[in-house]
Amino acid sequence: MNVATPGPEAAQIETAIVRMVRRFYAGWTDDALLAPILAALPEPEAHLAVIVDFWSRQLLGTERYQGKPFPPHWALKIEPAHFDRWMALFAEAARAELPADTAEQAITKAGHMSVAFQAGLFPLRGPDGRPMRLPH
Ligand code: HEM
Repeated sequence: MNVATPGPEAAQIETAIVRMVRRFYAGWTDDALLAPILAALPEPEAHLAVIVDFWSRQLLGTERYQGKPFPPHWALKIEPAHFDRWMALFAEAARAELPADTAEQAITKAGHMSVAFQAGLFPLRGPDGRPMRLPH
């Protein structure tokens, strides 16, 4: 984790994170795979606020986010293809809204977590490369 960067640069990145998260989820609404997952969230605004706090912690070292990112993903009906779409939309939003070096830092972090989440969710793959996971 980074040491918190005090001062105007950190404040600018905080507001850029809010724009980035909004842009990211706006992308979900037009995406066939991700739109139903967003639509199923009972309180999307509360979720977005958690995600802003998560990225603030990752990129600025703030401590508003104190959760555990992985467990809620067990309950979702997601496959590797969802992660590919997630990463594509995230990279687009990060590059559009964050300073260039911060965007690359965020994309690298998200990529590592995407790989780790998939290793946890889909430990076994069939011959077709798809997860051997019992239907929900
Ligand atoms: C297929 C890709 C993904 C989908 C569809 C997805 C969807 C979701 C949803 C619907 C929630 C809210 C769950 C709930 O509150 O019940 C959530 C939470 C969260 N996701 Fe993801 N996610 C994906 C991948 C990722 C990745 C790669 C990261 C890493 C940056 C990530 C970070 C988080 C975090 C930090 C939370 C908040 C957990 C908490 O409540 O503390 N997600 N995600």
